[in-house]
Amino acid sequence: MITENIQKLLNEQFIRELFSANLYLSICSYFEDQELDGFANFFRLQAQEEMQHAMKQFDYIHQVDGKVNMTAVDAPQTEFSSILEAFELSLAHEQLVTKSIHQIVKTAIEEGDFATHAFLQWFVTEQVEEEALIKNILRKLKMVGDNSSALYLLNDELSRRKPAPAE
Ligand code: FEO
Repeated sequence: MITENIQKLLNEQFIRELFSANLYLSICSYFEDQELDGFANFFRLQAQEEMQHAMKQFDYIHQVDGKVNMTAVDAPQTEFSSILEAFELSLAHEQLVTKSIHQIVKTAIEEGDFATHAFLQWFVTEQVEEEALIKNILRKLKMVGDNSSALYLLNDELSRRKPAPAE
């Protein structure tokens, strides 16, 4: 059983993961419109991973006899001024998600909720990987600059990204 407080935080995180999926689908759509299939593939897979994160939260809340509260999910941004802006927005969003995960971990420790603490360790590691992945592409994008041949190669690289095996 989890406390009301932890239940509330986990539900907020569940909704945040759904928002992440919608945000990445919105960015995917932006790239689809520009025929940048590699970038679109990258964000399509990001969106799928976020749905998996949401379902991990959903399942855990049920496992510990909590209640899932389905609430409205905010609409994501739909217009982007550049490829760079889309990735910078993604990084800022992931940093926000990392902060919120850390806040729930902190609360779980304060409440002596060792099960939730253990459950969240997967997310702590995942956030390190997600931030590193986006930072890596941001560095490449900055190297690419206005060079369309380099952009073509980066798009090609991202088109080869495969779905991560479900954990
Ligand atoms: Fe589920 Fe990218 O945070």
